[in-house]
Amino acid sequence: MHLGRTTLSKFLIQQLDGIENARELGALLVYVAAAVKAISAMTAKGALSGMHGKVETQNVHGEVQAKLDVIANDVLLRSSEWGGLVAGMASEEVDEPYPIPPQYPRGRFLLIFDPLDGSSNADVNVSVGTIFSILRHDRPEAPLLQDYLQQGREQVAAGYAIYGPSTMLVLTVGKGTHGFTLDREIGNFILTHPQMTIPADTGEFAINTSNARFWEAPVHRYVTECQAGRTGERGRDFNMRWIASMVAEVHRILIRGGVFMYPKDTKDPGKPGRLRLMYEASPIAMLIEQAGGRASTGRQRLLEVKPTELHQRVPVILGSANEVARIERYHVEHDAGHDGPFVSPLFNERSLFRPEARG
Ligand code: F6P
Repeated sequence: MHLGRTTLSKFLIQQLDGIENARELGALLVYVAAAVKAISAMTAKGALSGMHGKVETQNVHGEVQAKLDVIANDVLLRSSEWGGLVAGMASEEVDEPYPIPPQYPRGRFLLIFDPLDGSSNADVNVSVGTIFSILRHDRPEAPLLQDYLQQGREQVAAGYAIYGPSTMLVLTVGKGTHGFTLDREIGNFILTHPQMTIPADTGEFAINTSNARFWEAPVHRYVTECQAGRTGERGRDFNMRWIASMVAEVHRILIRGGVFMYPKDTKDPGKPGRLRLMYEASPIAMLIEQAGGRASTGRQRLLEVKPTELHQRVPVILGSANEVARIERYHVEHDAGHDGPFVSPLFNERSLFRPEARG
């Protein structure tokens, strides 16, 4: 029985009241939701869909594409290109922005997405997701690359879908972060998690510790203190998680708090981080802030990073506000040379905080 429940369409009519171009924005979010339902159906079929495994191509980042990446990308492009709502689109899977085909009218928004985040997890039946960001494009001309390069704080809407045991759509239009669960029987997203709120404190952190030797000192300091638990600086025990699917980590944080880090490291000195600014970090940062959390590079608020490239990478530290603020403080102290001597149990006597180690 679904009478009385708030569907996505009803929610959008109420939530978008007072926002410029509310009807168009609402319609675009409904298009995105339709694409998400199609991707959800494909991922739920698993190996039966015949879409598992890799294709021969690589994406712009040199990563071998999964079949589902390519299909999910196509579903989002096709669902959104025709209705006169978007002026252009950009995706993790495509080098250049996607122009709207000439037979369709152009709209006032730019849609940017990662069609299937964490797609290597699809083959092992672990949650994957779709992340999207919506920006304004107020000129009648077709967008140029620089029209896409807006700071995250310019986003008018952002969200993700998570394809897990249930499919959920979590979104914000700048009035809180709200979660909807797909009711497969009626084909509707139903508001199940209104006003999601991240607790300011947490006892859980997520980071890929196989990269520990490449981290900067402030991240070492934070993780080492968490690992020391009640016997160390923090005086309490911490738990660690790593799913390797950002959407799943972020979803956990929105539900019960925590910190997620893919920080700056020296693994590949040409890359300032692993995650992509425009279709991973920025939309997720908006959702996190709208839920009362904090999202940072360690040295700057993520929503204030000015993009210089469509596929630019960025360090990401986000989640429970007090913990993220602590990690930011560790960066400030380190950069000022104030973090003092430090001996990491991970690295025995080799202090990463000694001035000579900072180089
Ligand atoms: O950017 C894609 C992504 O799969 C994220 O969803 C995830 O957080 C990260 O990469 C996992 O990286 P790694 O394989 O280094 O753990």
